[in-house]
Amino acid sequence: MSSALFSPLTQRGISLRNRIAASPMSQYSAVDGMANDWHLVTFGKLAQGGAGLVMIETAAVSPEGRGTHGDLGLWNDAQIAPLARIVAFIAAQGAVPALQIGHAGRKASLQRPWEGYGRLGEKEAARGELPWPTLAPSAVPMSPEDAVPGALDEAGIAQLLQQFETTAARAAQAGVQVLEVHAAHGYLLHQFLSPLSNLRDDAWGGDARRRMAFPLAVLRRVRAAWPQERPLWLRVSAVDGAEGGRTLDDTLALARAAKAEGVDLVDCSSGGIAGLATAGSRIPRRLGFQVPFAQAVRAQAGIASMAVGLILTPQQAEDIVRSGQADVVALGRELLNNPNWPLHARQALVQPGFAQWPPQYGWWLEKRAAILQQLDGAAAAQR
Ligand SMILES: Cc1cc2nc3c(=O)[nH]c(=O)nc-3n(C[C@H](O)[C@H](O)[C@H](O)COP(=O)(O)O)c2cc1C
Repeated sequence: MSSALFSPLTQRGISLRNRIAASPMSQYSAVDGMANDWHLVTFGKLAQGGAGLVMIETAAVSPEGRGTHGDLGLWNDAQIAPLARIVAFIAAQGAVPALQIGHAGRKASLQRPWEGYGRLGEKEAARGELPWPTLAPSAVPMSPEDAVPGALDEAGIAQLLQQFETTAARAAQAGVQVLEVHAAHGYLLHQFLSPLSNLRDDAWGGDARRRMAFPLAVLRRVRAAWPQERPLWLRVSAVDGAEGGRTLDDTLALARAAKAEGVDLVDCSSGGIAGLATAGSRIPRRLGFQVPFAQAVRAQAGIASMAVGLILTPQQAEDIVRSGQADVVALGRELLNNPNWPLHARQALVQPGFAQWPPQYGWWLEKRAAILQQLDGAAAAQR
């Protein structure tokens, strides 16, 4: 059976064995930004499960750029080795190891999601998790109950550009093959892009073109530090989904400009700028609800795109790629539910059986399948 989902994709010097990416998923389990065994097992099993690319969660470019105390970081050289171990394991399973890098901006210094995603308070301080001052394009909090961030000055902006550049260089050293810059979900780069959070009237704010200036400057610096033969991806919130926010037209303009900076794919998510409580509330959730954004970016900005969000079944994923709506599909929570989803999808779409599974599992499962078939046959004979 021929499958578009299971056709390889080559960008620059890198080939994906199929079009299934594990979407970046923060584990909020790092200590001082260091990757550990939790990350190895989590991202390692997604590679074992057959994904073409495994995107390790977002790594902060500075300690203040973390969303929570548990965020991964790549702001110092000591953080390279534990990450390199995970990268090497992912690659050894035949998946492309990818990393997302970012800065949380005003959406920093928060509790972990399952602790409430609110401001750090006494409970956290008691275990040594103190709040820190946050930074943003303008002194505008996410919502009235959130901390007011400090507005970045020129020195702060120059420092951030340097941090993105050195983080990209560290990712290259760690062996990461695809790097994604996080400009979605209300984090710092998105805060520059959105008129709801960027009220500047200097070179870094104002009209839609100037609001793109900082994210594009980041991409330029990252691209220069990132090996030419390795792809650079960009994650965007294709629409803000909030009154007066960014629209798809703004994203198309960004995608074209990003392509000119050497970006190879736009990963199309949405929402997040309006605060955690209301994030996405204006973007109705349904299966594949963000696929039209990926389709528009691919068709109208002339750049490869990735679709993400409630992509659940192999046939749904196959249809997205086959119909040209996106070049790659990313799965998040469905892979937490079933890390072997890509292997199962391959059985459904390409070839039944376990020949393509890692032999440590496949050899046994093939035998078990034969036994189960015999039992079925015997049961049928008795009926
Ligand atoms: C546990 C968890 C952590 C996440 N962390 C990140 C992240 O670090 N960076 C990011 O861009 N998106 C992050 N996301 C969003 C996912 O990458 C994905 O876009 C979202 O879950 C929608 O896809 P899904 O419906 O397949 O889960 C996270 C999602 C989950 C569930």
